[in-house]
Amino acid sequence: MDIELVMAISEVWVYGRENQLPWKLRDDMAHFRRLTSGPGNAVVMGRRTFESIGRPLPNRLNIVITYNSDLKVPEGCIVSPPKIEIVQWLIRDRSVVKLFVIGGLKVWELFFDVCAVAHITRVGGNPEGNKSIPATSPLRLLASWQWSPVELVISDERNDFPFTIYRVERKT
Ligand SMILES: NC(=O)c1ccc[n+]([C@@H]2O[C@H](COP(=O)([O-])OP(=O)(O)OC[C@H]3O[C@@H](n4cnc5c(N)ncnc54)[C@H](OP(=O)(O)O)[C@@H]3O)[C@@H](O)[C@H]2O)c1
Repeated sequence: MDIELVMAISEVWVYGRENQLPWKLRDDMAHFRRLTSGPGNAVVMGRRTFESIGRPLPNRLNIVITYNSDLKVPEGCIVSPPKIEIVQWLIRDRSVVKLFVIGGLKVWELFFDVCAVAHITRVGGNPEGNKSIPATSPLRLLASWQWSPVELVISDERNDFPFTIYRVERKT
């Protein structure tokens, strides 16, 4: 099974603001939908990210990571503790072929070592936020992977800030 990271970060590694995204980027949302939707796809996310989205993402299995085994989630979602082996066990009999790790911080970190590919949206224009990837996080090693630009988008009425989508591959 393929496991790939998906994240949007500013040039100074900001990724969240008051439990929402620090920006409105409709074309990045469309890219996210195209990338992660489809039969055989699953997304894995932290409980706060799930709450900030507020509903299961359609056309893909939603896995919500929490220590709270009593967490109630709607149909289309399953709950897992933060253990890669348990997530893999949970999706084994659901015909999942591709798992996208969509954040936040601890979930990206949890899966970082088993990912060789990341889809990173680098957001320009210095958006403000209160959540960023710390300088001590292993995720900062992404800076030394191979970054290939896929799409460059200017800011306009659909997108608050300019951004570039990269396919980022671990160097072997
Ligand atoms: N820019 C982006 O690409 C992006 C992507 C996703 C989210 N976001 C933003 O990021 C923010 C939410 O992310 P976040 O980092 O604050 O939280 P998060 O990772 O979404 O959720 C944190 C919660 O997940 C559970 N959890 C997951 N992994 C864990 C681990 N390894 N150890 C312990 N607990 C773990 C815990 O739930 P319990 O407390 O229930 O045990 C923890 O409180 C929001 O602002 C959201 O909009 C941005």
